[in-house]
Amino acid sequence: MEEIALRIRIFGDPVLRKKSSAVKKVTARHREALSKMAQLMYEGEGVGLAAPQAGINENMIVVDIGEGLYKLVNPRIVKATGSQVNQEGCLSVPGLCIKVKRANKITLKALDDEGKSLDIKAEGLLACVFQHEIDHLKGKLIVDYASLIKKIEIARALKRLKDQVKDEESIKHTKSCKLQL
Ligand code: NI
Repeated sequence: MEEIALRIRIFGDPVLRKKSSAVKKVTARHREALSKMAQLMYEGEGVGLAAPQAGINENMIVVDIGEGLYKLVNPRIVKATGSQVNQEGCLSVPGLCIKVKRANKITLKALDDEGKSLDIKAEGLLACVFQHEIDHLKGKLIVDYASLIKKIEIARALKRLKDQVKDEESIKHTKSCKLQL
């Protein structure tokens, strides 16, 4: 099989805004992509990564908050209750930290990397990370949760980021936010 070289896509890359499509059958290609995504996540010291962040518009995510690695295909939330608010960062939007309100407890349905059906219950941080990654599959980013005032403020930061992307080496993956997803 052809080697896939993946890199983390940065805000401004259209792949981050496209809606990803469902995986019809989990194959060796998906398993390879999921392994590479996990590698990128760990290299970036993140706790979650979605396929679009690696340039792939297919429904796949990886998550590891320190309790083990999840490699999920076609994840969808079937139940969500309660609420929590966290300061979230994103490996695709370096340097920004945005307060996001999400459900506190969720139930997910997904496939594992062999195509087996999974039911996953998560709460707190793990639930937050799953919701952030599933947002990526819909083309949604943390900047979309910012208040209008905050949006004006971050517009400048994003403009700077877009300019930097022209010179990838100069992108500083600043750890201004503890949570990188
Ligand atoms: Ni993210």
